[in-house]
Amino acid sequence: MSETPRPNALRLGVNIDHVATVRNARGAGYPDPVRAGLLAAKAGADGITAHLREDRRHITDADIARLSAELPVPLNFEMAATEEMLGIALRHRPNAACIVPEKREERTTEGGLDAAGSFDRLRDFVARLGDSGIRVSLFIEPDERQVEAAVRLGAPVVEFHTGHYAELDGDARSVELGRVAAAAALAAKNGIESHAGHGLTYDNVQPIAAIPQICELNIGHFLVGEAIFTGLEASVKQMRALMDAAR
Ligand code: PXP
Repeated sequence: MSETPRPNALRLGVNIDHVATVRNARGAGYPDPVRAGLLAAKAGADGITAHLREDRRHITDADIARLSAELPVPLNFEMAATEEMLGIALRHRPNAACIVPEKREERTTEGGLDAAGSFDRLRDFVARLGDSGIRVSLFIEPDERQVEAAVRLGAPVVEFHTGHYAELDGDARSVELGRVAAAAALAAKNGIESHAGHGLTYDNVQPIAAIPQICELNIGHFLVGEAIFTGLEASVKQMRALMDAAR
């Protein structure tokens, strides 16, 4: 956790997947995503997020083992709902696991999980992760039906997909922002903690950060890209400052 507790603070989870993307582009040992996680924590990240994809295109099994052992802040393990990933999660026991949809051909996670449509399959995953002490979140669209499914699944946390919000502008963006706010209010009413993430940048983070029920943002691609110009510590600190200012 961060050094100084901030009342009403919004936690920042820094996703370090794309440090591994750069490393893997050459098959070299650098840049090291664990080093990035340690630096992000030093700069004020409250947690580190990493997605072990089925095709291992960025984060690897060895990265997850090292992140689990070396990070001074909680690890949020993003995983598809497969038996292989469940086994890995149960072996490493990260603080949190975020269940995401995964398609091999996608460039990045393109949308939320259909928690309503995959209810029977997800029930077992949520229960087995929860029973082993891992805080489970479901990455879903800001949609009433999906929040209701998360409630019935017994998930303690949902993370709202902000990718559409990030891609839209003008009135369409405002409508999408309203959907995130309404979904977070519904989750809170049902005792579920709300997180949000995907596509967030310095320019679009503040309206999402201002939604009072949202407790955590998970941000990666923009921060790693910005780090090329300013360094990772500076990009994390700037995001942290914008989030704090919006509360
Ligand atoms: N949250 C989830 C569940 C994600 O899958 C991702 C992308 O891996 C993020 C947050 C971070 O998104 P971005 O890299 O666009 O900031």
